[in-house]
Parts: sequence; structure tokens; C-alpha cells
Amino acid sequence: MQVQGLEDVVAAESSICFIDGDKGILSYRGIDIHELARKSTFEEVCFLLWEGRLPAREELAATQREIGAERAIPGEILSFLASLARTAAPMEALRTAVSALSAADPDGADMSPAANRRKARRLTGQIGTVVAAYERLRRGQAVVPPDPGRSHADDILRMLGGQTAPSSAVRALDIALILHADHELNASTFAARVTAATLSDMHSAVTSAIGTLKGPLHGGANEAVLQMLREIGSLDRVDADIRARLARKERIMGFGHRVYSTEDPRATHLREMSRQVAESSATTLWYDMSQRIEQIVNAEKKLNANVDFYSASLYFMLGIPPDLFTPLFAVSRISGWTAHVLEQYAHNRLIRPRAEYTGPSYPQPYVPMDAR
Ligand code: ACO
Repeated sequence: MQVQGLEDVVAAESSICFIDGDKGILSYRGIDIHELARKSTFEEVCFLLWEGRLPAREELAATQREIGAERAIPGEILSFLASLARTAAPMEALRTAVSALSAADPDGADMSPAANRRKARRLTGQIGTVVAAYERLRRGQAVVPPDPGRSHADDILRMLGGQTAPSSAVRALDIALILHADHELNASTFAARVTAATLSDMHSAVTSAIGTLKGPLHGGANEAVLQMLREIGSLDRVDADIRARLARKERIMGFGHRVYSTEDPRATHLREMSRQVAESSATTLWYDMSQRIEQIVNAEKKLNANVDFYSASLYFMLGIPPDLFTPLFAVSRISGWTAHVLEQYAHNRLIRPRAEYTGPSYPQPYVPMDAR
């Protein structure tokens, strides 16, 4: 076991997400991700993560209604977002908005299980609207209010683009939301659980998680993948560029994973969706470049694409701006973060590990200022 990075350390008991990294298995509450991606919806997955089982028909309808109703965000938060719009990147705005939303939450400081379940649903609804509204504000466009009758994926695309998106784009986003919803003790979920374990509130836990997701070694990698694709720019430049990056010992964003030694099962779907969207688009360039990069990195480094690799070309071809890729990850992962926070509260113990001390030997003298 390696101390640095807590590799393979089991730091919590959880009944939410099962991963077998050698076999490439990912499941939510025991249900295989491939089956969920084919048959489920984001709202159904939210219920599954929060409640531990699939909803009955009425329960699913209620979850859709509740998340839809919670997409509305207070006017003061919209004004606050408008005040950030000239300077803050979307991920900064999202992190700041979630922190601010705690002050406007109708459940306030109530830490009862029922209030925390409501906060989970509310944050899930609100985060989608924050991302879409902020994008409109920074483009100088009118904010599109949520339509509670629509599915989350449908309404987010409509609030972003100002009109109903094609059903193929809605289903592609819905599947992407399902695939990103939870992933055991990934860095941002761990951050959320550490915060929750001090018995701090759900908004604080989610704010910690968003700050953690933002980094390029975690959720920020999807935006970095698109930046790399744009830098390379054409299919004929891929080989030389990627080989040069590898020779410089640079990390190729969207490859490698702490847990999977085989294909990340989420990448299987995202690759296929990227291919399908490319084939119905004006150009297949972004998919073709991605595929060639994958072949080279597989061959040269034996590294597999992770969830962030093909989501980049997919989102870009769906017309989503690159700096919204990581916020969209949060739009989905809020379901997993809040499920883990609820689980942490239900079986709480403070998370407080130790460090292997490597500093000056004890005891050292306290040298007076004049003698230093
Ligand atoms: N490109 C090139 N080499 C890599 C990559 C990569 N993407 N990933 C790992 N390696 C190499 C490392 O250089 C190292 O090689 P070395 O032993 O010769 O020094 C070896 O593989 C092991 O790498 P570690 O950093 O020890 O692996 P770790 O488990 O700590 O890292 C991580 C996992 C952070 C995901 C890493 O693979 C990486 O940086 N990938 C690129 C960023 C990325 O895509 N992040 C998203 C992950 S998925 C998610 O969080 C949603």
C-alpha cells in the first residue's frame, strides 16, 4: 500500500456504488451501469442513489416533479451570479453560488434526515439552473426560467440554448448524467464526506466537493481534453503531437485511472455516443482525433480512456462550451455527493486520519528572534 494519495485505502463503508477496477464493473446499488445507461433516466438514478432501490412508477413521477420544482433559484442568487459574470469562470461561479444558496435555503440549518433529503433534491435541481443561467448571463442573454414539467436533461439544454433541444441531444445528455452520477470514494465525494463528517451542513459539503472536482486531475480533465484536441487541430497532426507530449512526460488528459486497470465502463458509452453524434454532425474530426489519440496512448502507455476523454468531444459536438464541461459533471455528480452525505450523516464518525511525520526530529529548540 502506498501512503501518498491513499491508494487502495478503504476509508468508508458504503452501500451506494460498487466498482471492480480489474473487471471494469461499475454499479449503483448493485445495478450495472451498462443497464442503467440503456434503460434508466437521471431522475430514476437520483432516487436509486438516495433511497437505495429503484422507484415505483409513482415515486419516479414524484421525484421528477420535485427535482423540476426545485430548479427554480431565488432572484437574489441570479443577481449575485450576474455580478460575477464578467470575471468568474463557470466552475468558480457554481462553487460560489452553492455556498450562497445555503443562506437562501428554506430548510435553513435544519439537519433532520427529512430536511437533508429535501436539500439533496433541491441542490440537484438548482445546480442545473445555476450552470445554465450563468452561461446566459455571461453571454449577455436573458436567463431562461426553468420548466418544471420537463426532464432535467431536457430543461438544462433548453435553459442553455433558449429553445427545446433535439430529442437525440436530450437523450445523450441524460445518459451522460447517468454515467457521471456516482463513483464511490472519488476525490470530490471523499471531500464531501470529510466535510459532512464534522456535522457541517450539506451546502458546505457540496461546496467542498465542487472545489475538489474542479482540478484537472479529477473533473477538470474533460475541459483539458478539449483544449488538447483544439491545440492539435487536425487528424494528421495527432501522431506527432501525442508522441511529443509523451516524450516530454506530459500527462495526456482523459487517460488513466486510480481504480480501473481495464476500460472505464463509462468510457465505453461515451465513445459510442461521441461516434453517433459525430456521424450526424457536419464533421467527424473531434471523434476521429479522439480515436487516434486513444490508439496511440493505449499502445505507448497501456493507459485506457477514462470518463473525461470522450465526454469532451461529445459535449463539444452538442454545442456546449468547453468551460461548462466540468460544471455539467457537477450537475450530475450532485446526486452522488448528496447520497454520500446522507449516508455519512446516518452512520457518522469524524474522518480524521494521521500523517507520517517527516519533519525535523523532536525536540527542536525554539530559537529567540535575535538569535536566528
Ligand atoms: N498520461 C500519461 N501518463 C500517465 C497518465 C496520463 N494520463 N496517467 C498516469 N500516467 C502514468 C504516470 O506518469 C505514472 O508513470 P510513472 O510510473 O512512469 O511515473 C503512472 O502512469 C502512474 O500514474 P499515477 O499518477 O501514480 O497514477 P494515479 O493513480 O495517481 O493517477 C490519475 C490517476 C490522476 C487519474 C492519472 O491517471 C492522471 O493524471 N490522468 C490524467 C488526468 C485525468 O484524466 N483525470 C481524470 C480522472 S477520472 C475522474 O477523476 C473523473
